[in-house]
This record gives sequence, structure tokens and C-alpha cells, in this order.
Amino acid sequence: MSRTHHRSRTLLLALATVLAVSGGTAVALTGGTGAEAAAARVDNPYAGAKGYVNPEWKAKADAEPGGSRISSQPTGVWLDRIAAIQGANGKMGLRAHLDTALRQGAGVIQLVIYNLPGRDCAALASNGELGPTEIDRYKTEYIDPIARILADSKYANLRIVTTVEIDSLPNLVTNTGGRPTATPECDVMKANGNYVKGVGYALNKLGAVPNVYNYVDAGHHGWIGWDDNFAASAQIFREAATAEGSTVDKVHGFITNTANYSALKEENFKIGDSVNGRSVRESKWVDWNRYTDELSFAQAFRNQLVSTGFRSDIGMLIDTSRNGWGGTARPTGPGPTTDVNTYVEGGRYDRRIHIGNWCNQSGAGLGERPKAAPAAGIDAYVWMKPPGESDGASKEIPNDEGKGFDRMCDPTYGGNARNGYNKPGALPDAPLSGHWFSAQFQELMRNAHPKL
Ligand code: GLC
Repeated sequence: MSRTHHRSRTLLLALATVLAVSGGTAVALTGGTGAEAAAARVDNPYAGAKGYVNPEWKAKADAEPGGSRISSQPTGVWLDRIAAIQGANGKMGLRAHLDTALRQGAGVIQLVIYNLPGRDCAALASNGELGPTEIDRYKTEYIDPIARILADSKYANLRIVTTVEIDSLPNLVTNTGGRPTATPECDVMKANGNYVKGVGYALNKLGAVPNVYNYVDAGHHGWIGWDDNFAASAQIFREAATAEGSTVDKVHGFITNTANYSALKEENFKIGDSVNGRSVRESKWVDWNRYTDELSFAQAFRNQLVSTGFRSDIGMLIDTSRNGWGGTARPTGPGPTTDVNTYVEGGRYDRRIHIGNWCNQSGAGLGERPKAAPAAGIDAYVWMKPPGESDGASKEIPNDEGKGFDRMCDPTYGGNARNGYNKPGALPDAPLSGHWFSAQFQELMRNAHPKL
């Protein structure tokens, strides 16, 4: 899987350097220190590269009993508001993270670009600061300043992974247009085009920096693994990747399962299995989905993306921060073959009440530790969602972060159309999304799979 189009870029840079020198004046073309002409993009930015350890997350993990077992793992740095670029509420800003990455001798840093207008249109817990129409602020006050910082030549040798706008585009597919799962907010974002434009703009601007690797968010198997959503999602991703001057060449790959809980591999049943002549697809849990787990989905969706016009060498990332589902309740073998439901229920690792549940899931554990090139088509297993950071508050908490109260984070709620009106399965007493949730962190370590 070579990325030949990048080779020509290196050649041009080399040529430009020669010309500048032969012109008599030694100009540092990239304004930097000598490390200079950014290296060509590699096929897999995680390969052979040490991941940046966010010292702020590390400190929180280290403060927990047993936390030092995982506190040196690389996790995502979420730029979840404009102020996060400079550093909100005394926290490190983007330059501080990048400078620390250089000091650590890190080869790759992982950023989450997460501030679209009308953010989180199908939920309330991670609503953001920008209203549905504030696309210009998104461009000029959020993406442009980030792109300027990333383009600083002193970071040219750092591979910068940018995961772009979690949940946004999948919401346009599944939660709009008269579907029972639609929300008025998602209909607005579909109609005004600002998710598509914002993602296109972000990909184009960030992707213009030679050492930036854009990965677009692609939901997870329990979201777009159904026939109605699969091809349609790839289409809308392509639409966004070619909006606002961007092209598919600005997309290095896609990330699935970000901040979600879908199991990596369900080993006790396969999509092709049947019991008493009935396919597991007919079971209540699988519910006609084509995929039973994240790995099979990510690999298949990669093919779909390529056939929809993305480059044939794109790579996938899978967020495995919280999809381990280990601990004492983990099934040790397939369920009884009484019928498809006993078979699937007895065997599945993912113990959510419903696969549409997403907030602070009770019983979850840490998943695979971050790892480069773990499987065909997969660039890395990553911990994009920092374990221990809440998905949302279990009750209304006034805040200045634009975060709402989503009852999917309240364990007493009866659910909505997007989780089949089931209980949300959330842990109680959770703080605001992004805030430290000690009880969850402890449970994640207890239920880690592989074990710590
Ligand atoms: C949530 C929050 C965001 C936080 C992120 C990582 O999406 O809304 O503020 O940074 O999770 O924990």
C-alpha cells in the first residue's frame, strides 16, 4: 500500500530546496530550524512511531489507585471548543501539547477536531458552543488557527493525526428525513449543509499541512452497519470530502467506534451462523445488521469507501479505549443453541442493553491497548476517547461549555427511538462530558480485556 502521490511532493520540495540554495541565498523555506522540508506522508503514521502521552490525562490516571498501569498510553487530545486551542480553564493549549510531544520524542500525536456548528445534533450531552449557522466562526476562529499552528515548521517531523468531527456525518444519514430516529436538530444540519461544509473545510485546510493525517469519523457497526446506512454513509463522506475545495486525497483514512463501546471481535457467534435454520441476523441483538463487531465492520466499510471513490490505500483506526467487555461477566463460550436469541445473548461480549446505548456504559472495560497495524486494513487500535472522561452528566449540571443534559446518561430513563426505548445502561452520578469520572475509570480497569 504505497502512497505514490506523496512521493512527487517530496521531489518538489527537494527541488525547491536546491533552487533556493543555488539562487545564492540560503533560505529556510519552511522557516524552521533545519529539520525542514516536511517528510512525505507515510502509509501508516502509527508504524514505528511512539505515541504522544497527554500529561493532563496521565496525571488524572496516575492519581487513581492502579492507574499507573495504563497512564503512559497515548490518548486523543480533544480540541472541543475554540478556547481549547489556547488552553481553556488553565489547561494546555494546542502548542503546549505539540511542544511537549517534541520533548517526549513522540513520533505521532492524535488530535480530535470537534467543534462543528450545531454539534451533536442527535444528543445533548456534547452539544457545543457554535449554533447551527455559525459556520464562518468554525472556519476562521477554529479551523484556521489550528491549521496555522500545525503548519509551524518546528512540528514538521511529528506525524499529526487529526480525527475529524465525531458523530456528525453519520447523524445526517440516520437521524434525518422522516426516519423515526430523526431529530429536528439533525434535519436542520442536513438542510443547511454546515456539517458537510465544515468537514470539507477542515479536511482541506488541515490536509494542506504535509505532516497532517486526516481520519474522518465513520460511526461504528451498531450505527451504520445496516444496509440502509452503509452505502449512504460512504456517499455522504465522499460528499463532505469533496466539499469546500477538499478532495478525496486529503483523506488518509477513517476512524470507527470513537468514544463508543462496540466490541472489537465477537468470537462466540458469526454473522453467517444460524440456529434451527434462523440466521443470527434475526436475533434481537443483531436485528438484521450485517456486522457483529467492529473489526469486521471496519474492514468491510473500508472496501465500501474505496468503491465509493476514496483512495485504495486508506487505513482505518478503531477506538478500543472502552470496548473490552472483560471481567467476570464475560461469556466464555457460545450461548445455548435453543434459538438464535439464546445463542447470541449467551455468547455476546458486548453486554449493553441495546447497541444504541452510548453513555457511560455500565460493565464496560478497557479494550485492546493502542497498537499499530494490528490487522489488514487497520492502521491502528487507538484510545481516542481518554478512558475515565465522562460521556455526559446523569443529571442537569449548569455549565459554560454548551453541554446539555441528555437523558441517555440518566440510568432511570426509559430510552428513545434511537435505542429502541430501552434503558440507557449508564453508570449513575456521572459528571459533565469530558470531565473526570473516577468510578467509571475504576470499572474500566476492572473489566479490561485483555486484562491489565
Ligand atoms: C466529549 C466531550 C468533550 C471531551 C470529549 C473527550 O465528547 O463533549 O468535551 O473533550 O468527550 O472526553
